[in-house]
Amino acid sequence: MAQRIAVIGGDGIGPEVIGQALRVLDAVRHRGLDVDVWQLPLGAELYLKNGTTFPSELRDEVRQTCAAVLLGAVGDPRVPSGEHAHDILMGMRHAWDLYANVRPVRALTDALVPLRGKAKAAVNLVIFRENTEGQYVGVGRERGRGTAHEIAMSREVHTRRGVERLLRAAFEHARQNDLPLLMTDKSNAIPAQGIWRRVLGELAREFPEVPTEALYVDALAARLIQAPEKHGVIAANNLFGDILADLCAALAGGLGLAPSANLHPAVPGHIALFEPVHGSAPDIAGRGVANPLGAIRSLGMLLQHLGHPAEAARIERTAEEVLRLQRCTTDVGGSLGTVAAGSAFLEVFAQQ
Ligand code: NAI
Ligand code: MG
Repeated sequence: MAQRIAVIGGDGIGPEVIGQALRVLDAVRHRGLDVDVWQLPLGAELYLKNGTTFPSELRDEVRQTCAAVLLGAVGDPRVPSGEHAHDILMGMRHAWDLYANVRPVRALTDALVPLRGKAKAAVNLVIFRENTEGQYVGVGRERGRGTAHEIAMSREVHTRRGVERLLRAAFEHARQNDLPLLMTDKSNAIPAQGIWRRVLGELAREFPEVPTEALYVDALAARLIQAPEKHGVIAANNLFGDILADLCAALAGGLGLAPSANLHPAVPGHIALFEPVHGSAPDIAGRGVANPLGAIRSLGMLLQHLGHPAEAARIERTAEEVLRLQRCTTDVGGSLGTVAAGSAFLEVFAQQ
């Protein structure tokens, strides 16, 4: 039976890069992979037209009928509240409890590693970011905005269940791939984050074969620049994972290349969401220059998740090859526009 995936281009460069990912999916389908695509026209355009964000009945139908979702990006300057973006992205992450945001960081060519004297082999790690709680639970308040007595407060929430399941997923990935695990926090200054160290210590006893380390996030930031090769799996709370993922994306050659998955790893076959790490990039939207490789590699992660590792590996090999040939967009050293970069990808893909 065909597997079905839902596709949301979203806003800005989202539909531009997803358009190229869908061409790659077509090529994969021509080779006999049975995948149905259901395109959902959600985003700022629809929201501005009639106020629709992501109706919960529609989201439930996606949940029931699809194996995965591929998303471009959401966020549009015409919607300063970001309401639709929140409903679409957080709607899926929260309603489906996609607690692990997995962001592989692998440099594909030496030329794109910005660190002096480091080759691509030095940048090869994966971030497991907690995706449902931490600093992003939206608990807080402001008082006296604009006055001399203004106070802004925001809470962070870390539950044992939330921390444990994220760390467990990270440990399992580390064990399967023979990698060390590093957990990062700031529990010296924020005592509430001590729960991460305690749970790490408990789980480490269950995974004695995994080398384990805890490091404060400021020290980690420095070490990632000085010695990225020391890292395998990095587990982090929601905020730190978000920031580190962009830092690491830059180490691997830029935001335009970085893929990600939002998973519920505790349940095999659970619906999952795949998206490039970058946002809707309003500064370049509509100009046809956005790099489609982050979106295409996110499709690769989706195919891996659906049980097609050979196609996923072909996508990674092709991404390496188009960068080596500089048949890519300007942000990664090429001279092509989005569609031409997609065409170059398809040509090289057919030879892999
Ligand atoms: P951004 O990732 O959209 O852009 C940051 C910079 O990277 C910009 O200069 C942009 O031109 C460049 N860039 C990003 N993707 C690129 C690509 N594929 N090719 C070439 N250059 C690329 O982040 P920013 O500007 O902070 O946010 C813009 C909007 O996107 C906001 O509304 C934000 O809320 C939203 N956003 C949405 C995300 C999502 O849907 N998951 C994630 C991050 C931001
Ligand atoms: Mg981010």
